[in-house]
Amino acid sequence: MTGMQRGKFITIDGVEGAGKSTQITFICDYLKAKGVNVILTREPGGTDVGEKIRTLLLSNSTGKMHADTELMLMFSARNEHIQNKIMPALKQGDWVLSDRFTDASYAYQGGGRGLDVERIAQLEQWVLQDFTPDMTLLLDVPVEIGMSRVESRGKKDRIELEATDFFNRVRQAYIDRSEQFPERIKLIDSSQTVEHTKQQIKVILDSL
Ligand SMILES: Nc1ncnc2c1ncn2[C@@H]1O[C@H](COP(=O)(O)OP(=O)(O)O)[C@@H](O)[C@H]1O
Ligand SMILES: [Mg+2]
Repeated sequence: MTGMQRGKFITIDGVEGAGKSTQITFICDYLKAKGVNVILTREPGGTDVGEKIRTLLLSNSTGKMHADTELMLMFSARNEHIQNKIMPALKQGDWVLSDRFTDASYAYQGGGRGLDVERIAQLEQWVLQDFTPDMTLLLDVPVEIGMSRVESRGKKDRIELEATDFFNRVRQAYIDRSEQFPERIKLIDSSQTVEHTKQQIKVILDSL
């Protein structure tokens, strides 16, 4: 008897306003229509403990936080996410779609905060070992366009309050990651219409 096939783990990443939340809903519906069991989740968060860590990370009332603390909290939430949600789902054959994942730590805490990539890699090794997404959709958009899209969202969270320079470094770090891992990370131009982005994603999903 053949064992149950492991589900696929797909992550979607990019700067604020790149269109992650918009497109992940589309991806979910698209896969469901093809008969795939999909679980939708997000980082930081996705579990009870993870969502509490998310509140701590994003709340403006949290106050000043050392960049290493921020990084370790991200990985703490991620550990909970992997152990208690992602892996169990994949093992029972479901697919998992996550709004952000480890690449975001390299982009925000690495590129944005300027933490040494080697130290992030050590934490990644500690928490993930050889676990990695099957595919990552990187929605790329110039920071100004992304920001203008999310302006109407209201009050900015602790990280969204950073200056444009911070997000330019975040965007560049994401692009660098996609060049480092061209097989896994698919760079998608998300600067135009929702439909334009969707079409590119469709082509990639159909290749899976
Ligand atoms: N190409 C695009 N892809 C996705 N969303 C887009 C696009 N162009 C404009 N938008 C709009 O940008 C806004 C922010 O998108 P959202 O999915 O919330 O971004 P994110 O989750 O990456 O911060 C939404 O109102 C969406 O309709
Ligand atoms: Mg979002």
